[in-house]
Amino acid sequence: MTIHIGAAPGEIAETVLMPGDPYRARWAAETFLTDAKLVNEVRGMLGFTGTYKGERVTIQGSGMGMPSLSIYANELISDYNAQTLIRIGSCGGMQPHVAVRDVVLAMSATTITSPSSVIFRDINFAPTASYDLLAAAVEAAKAKGVKTHVGSIYSSDVFYAERPDLDEQMVRHGILGVEMEAAELYTLAARHGRRALAVLTVSDHLQTGEALPSEDREKTFGDMVEIALDAAFA
Ligand code: HPA
Repeated sequence: MTIHIGAAPGEIAETVLMPGDPYRARWAAETFLTDAKLVNEVRGMLGFTGTYKGERVTIQGSGMGMPSLSIYANELISDYNAQTLIRIGSCGGMQPHVAVRDVVLAMSATTITSPSSVIFRDINFAPTASYDLLAAAVEAAKAKGVKTHVGSIYSSDVFYAERPDLDEQMVRHGILGVEMEAAELYTLAARHGRRALAVLTVSDHLQTGEALPSEDREKTFGDMVEIALDAAFA
């Protein structure tokens, strides 16, 4: 047990998928895992452990934003020995060729600030995905026929942005999409020698204003979960 995770020692797998939304953790566990068991419900941030093709997996909600994700990722790494942490979440599309429903595999994640910024001082650290997971996710997406983009994303601290000029610079520099968690996950994984990746579904688009209708979300998010699971055990 930790401050924020009620699971007993051994109840968390070495491979952890992390959706922002705890209800999506429940849905993914019930849909894709065998014998999924609830292992955490502290603060309603649900976590489940089960098996996928015989391999143990935990699906633990991270909450929204880097400070929340940082709490769960730190405890999963330091107290439960999580070795592979894969964010499964949504992002806002930032390029014309990145469409709603597409999958984005985040090779790197740019930030303005993150919970780790304070330790880097004047260094602009480049939070980067684990290459073996990234390469395996590319193959898994190909095998499923899912339209996928690989590149850089922007991990923002705000959903309701007041600085349109910042988005403009991201777009100019080829950033594929915006979300709020990956950069800190990559930084923590680097610090502790663990593997990390973010597999994201484009849920809305900043330039076109298009948003994924709620009835389409399950199928599209399902592709993302399977890509993450196949990449974890490739
Ligand atoms: N901004 C930040 N995070 C997001 C967005 C967005 O537009 N869409 C999905 N996650």
